[in-house]
Amino acid sequence: MAKTPGREGRSQAPVYYASYLKLDRLLSSQERESERAGAPAHDEMLFIIVHQAYELWFKQILFELDAIEALFDAPNVADRDLGRIVRGLDRIVAILKLLVAQFEVLETMTPLDFLEFRDRLFPASGFQSVQFRQIEARLGLKRQHRLNFDDRPYDSRLAPADREQVVAAEARPDLGALLDRWLARTPFVEHGSFRFREAYRKAVLAMLAEDARTARANLALGEGERRSEAEQLDEAAARFAAIFDEQRHRAMQEAGVWRLSWRALQAAVLINLYRDEPVLQLPFRLLAALMDIDEELTTWRNRHALLVQRMIGMKLGTGGSSGHDYLRAVAERHRVFGDLFALSTFLIPRSRLPALPAELRRAMGFGYAEGAP
Ligand code: HEM
Repeated sequence: MAKTPGREGRSQAPVYYASYLKLDRLLSSQERESERAGAPAHDEMLFIIVHQAYELWFKQILFELDAIEALFDAPNVADRDLGRIVRGLDRIVAILKLLVAQFEVLETMTPLDFLEFRDRLFPASGFQSVQFRQIEARLGLKRQHRLNFDDRPYDSRLAPADREQVVAAEARPDLGALLDRWLARTPFVEHGSFRFREAYRKAVLAMLAEDARTARANLALGEGERRSEAEQLDEAAARFAAIFDEQRHRAMQEAGVWRLSWRALQAAVLINLYRDEPVLQLPFRLLAALMDIDEELTTWRNRHALLVQRMIGMKLGTGGSSGHDYLRAVAERHRVFGDLFALSTFLIPRSRLPALPAELRRAMGFGYAEGAP
C-alpha cells in the first residue's frame, strides 16, 4: 500500500474510514435467527442492533472504569487526578442517560412484532450480558447482595469463559471500596484540635432539642400527634448516632444499614455540609457523580422492567426469571451507592453549621483571594 506522510512527517499507511472502524466486521454481525429459520421477522434486526449498541456503550463504560480505577486505586490519590476521575464519572453518567433514552427506539416494536421471533431466543437473555455484570461488580455490587431468582448462582447461566471474566471483575477493587478508602483518608475530619464529629454533634443536638421544644409548644397538635413527633425526633437522634458513635455504626454496618465505614461516612457528611469550601468542591462533585450513576442505573433498570412488562406482560423471561417482578425487585436491591442518598437525612441547614476554625478554613482555601484588596 502507498505510504503518505503522517502529521508528524512519519510515513504511514493512509487511514481509510471503513477499515479504521472495522465496519466489515461490525456491519456483518447482525444475523437474524428468524431469517436462518426461513421466516424472517423484520423487527429482529432492530432488536439485534439495539442490543449491540448497548453492548458497545457498556464497553465504553468499562473502559472509563479502567481509567478511573487506575487513578483512584492509589494509596494517596493525587489532587490533580481528582478532576480526571470526576470527568470520567460524568462521562459514564452521560452514557447512562443515553442508554435510558435508547429504550424508546426499541419500543417502536410492538409486543406482537416481538412474538414473531421471541421463541427462537430461548434460553438467551440480557441476563447473560457479561459486560453488564462486570459493570455491576466494578461499581461495587457484591455477589452476596444479589437477588437470585432460583438457587443457582447468578453467573451459572454463563459460558465458562464468560463466568471467568465476571469472577475476575469481582476480584478487582470496586469503585465503592475505592471511594471508602479515599473518603476515610479525608484530612479535614480531624484537623489540629478540631474534631468534626464533636462540633457537628453539638449542632445536631441543639437542632433536635429546638425541634422538640417547638413540637411541645405547638398547641395545634393533638396529644397523639405530639407523641408521634417526639418519636420521630428520637428516631432521628438514633440515626444520627451512627455518625458520632463508632460502636453503633459497626452494629448498623453489620446489620447492612450502612456500607460505608465510620470514617468514610463522617467525611462524606463533612464534604456535603462544607461543599462550598474550595478544596471540597471537587470531592463534592465526585460524590454527586456517583449518586448520578446510581440514579441513572436505577432508572435504566426501572425503564427496562417497564419495557419488559409492555413486551411480555406477566410471562416468564427467556432466561427463566419471573420477568417483570424480578426486574422491579433488583432495581432497588442492586443499588450500590445508596449510602450517599441516605446521607441527606443527616444534613442540617447552613445557618446551623458549626463555624470552622479560621486556620482550617485557610487550609481549605485556594489562597487566590489572599492578597486581594
Ligand atoms: C424486547 C425487549 C426485552 C425484553 C422482553 C427483555 C426481557 C428481559 C427479562 C425477562 C429479563 C430477566 C431475566 C430473564 O428471565 O430473561 C431481562 C434481563 C436483562 N436484560 Fe432484558 N429485555 C429486553 C431488552 C433488553 C435490552 C435492549 C437490553 C440491553 C442490553 C437488556 C439487558 C438486560 C440485562 C442486562 C438483564 C439482566 C438484568 C438483571 O439481572 O439485573 N434487555 N431482560
